[in-house]
Amino acid sequence: APASRVLIVSNRLPSTVRVDEGRVQLTPSAGGLATGLRGVHDAAGSTWIGWSGAPAELPSATRREIALRLAEVDALGVPIHGPEIAGFYQRFANGVLWPVLHDRDDHPDPDPDDWATYRAVNARFAAVVAEEARPGDRVWVHDYHLMLVPRLLRARRPDLRTGFFLHTPFPDSMASLPQRRTLLDGILGADVVGFHTPAYAARFGDAVRATLGRDVELASGAGFADDDGRAVSVHACPMSVDAAGFAARATDPRVIRRVQELRAAGGPLFVGVDRLDHTKGIPERLAAFERLLDERPELRGRARLLQLAVPSREDVPAYRELRARVEALVARVNRRFATLAWQPVTYVYGSVDEVELSAMYCAADVMLVTPLRDGMNLVAKEFVASRIDEKGVLVLGEHAGAAAELRAALLVDPRDAGELSRAYARALDMSPAERRVRMRRLRARVDAHDVRRWADECLALLGADLQASERRG
Ligand code: UDP
Ligand code: G6P
Repeated sequence: APASRVLIVSNRLPSTVRVDEGRVQLTPSAGGLATGLRGVHDAAGSTWIGWSGAPAELPSATRREIALRLAEVDALGVPIHGPEIAGFYQRFANGVLWPVLHDRDDHPDPDPDDWATYRAVNARFAAVVAEEARPGDRVWVHDYHLMLVPRLLRARRPDLRTGFFLHTPFPDSMASLPQRRTLLDGILGADVVGFHTPAYAARFGDAVRATLGRDVELASGAGFADDDGRAVSVHACPMSVDAAGFAARATDPRVIRRVQELRAAGGPLFVGVDRLDHTKGIPERLAAFERLLDERPELRGRARLLQLAVPSREDVPAYRELRARVEALVARVNRRFATLAWQPVTYVYGSVDEVELSAMYCAADVMLVTPLRDGMNLVAKEFVASRIDEKGVLVLGEHAGAAAELRAALLVDPRDAGELSRAYARALDMSPAERRVRMRRLRARVDAHDVRRWADECLALLGADLQASERRG
């Protein structure tokens, strides 16, 4: 009999398809889910089911070509039509659910039609998985776009063992979301539910108790009973990065050359790398840098901030507004302080390849990871994994999931502008010895808890037979 497989199911596939004048182009998808799971997918020989990134309304020849190109990377596309992309992805998932999960209640009211579209797209995902899965396959569903899939899949294929992993925080309150009962019940269709931190798992338990009246015991990942008496177990498994891969890249001659170029101007270098998202605290980070230049005049003409903002969800109004706000702030700081010889903020709106990314991490004197809220934040771990030289200081927002593990970072409350700019100054003033001690502790954590370990833990909980699956490794 063929070995049982792992089916990874997420809205975003590892590659995103763009169709340009009829030509099909695949680019690596941005964001932690795609970058983190990509290596797991390659190693586990899984099949990855998700949205191509292009609307389904395309000529049949183009659709066939997309399917072939996706099949080359063991991916299977779920068709989503243009109006569904707007209702399901842009408005319900990213306009409403994403802010709710990050504890913001300033989102638009969820539109009943968009909710209907969210349900319809979830049902389509469940149908594709039910069709594709062979008996014994393990199904691993990811993130907030697909909360209803575990329950819908159970209705069609009760034989399948299913896991659900949430890549965002779990919020203190879902009160601003009328659909919370259905969403929580949807997740409980899984056998195993995973979160990045114990705090998120505990909050999920509280929400299930308060909203559905079902009892939840979370001690040491213990489970609780679903309506039908079936046990659902809830776990905290922090996602991570390919630590060895980042460490190796730090010695790549191309990276070393780029580091020299990035540092050529001399002076302290601050670096930020984020998807351009309102959870990342980018305006707060820029304002604190401005404050630093105000308060420490000797840094003018010397200190620089290199901020990479990876384009994200550009059709969602909140993201367009954020972009305008960030770019206005960058312009203000540069207008106030730039000289002919020096520009304090270098802002790049775009994405970079892995050499450039590693060079940014390795060039930084101070890495700024200051989200207002973040499920995990892999950028923080990628930075740490890259710093084999044991130099560089990580300033880390305490509301990132990563802060639960990376205790040796300079932990800050990014909402407090004074605290933030004082942390920048402290990072600059830190003695080489303290930097080394902190970086060693950070690196020990990330090395021992890399993405392979995360995947092995999650897949073991799912009961995936890793021996049997052909590892492409
Ligand atoms: N990243 C990317 N494109 C880039 C720069 C970075 O895809 O041009 C990656 C980065 O390496 C990291 C991910 O995007 O793996 C961001 O993950 P994180 O968990 O920090 O935040 P998310 O974007 O998932 O909210
Ligand atoms: C976060 C979410 C992922 C998402 C990624 C990029 O990491 O948790 O589910 O894939 O952002 O966002 P996008 O909307 O482009 O998929």
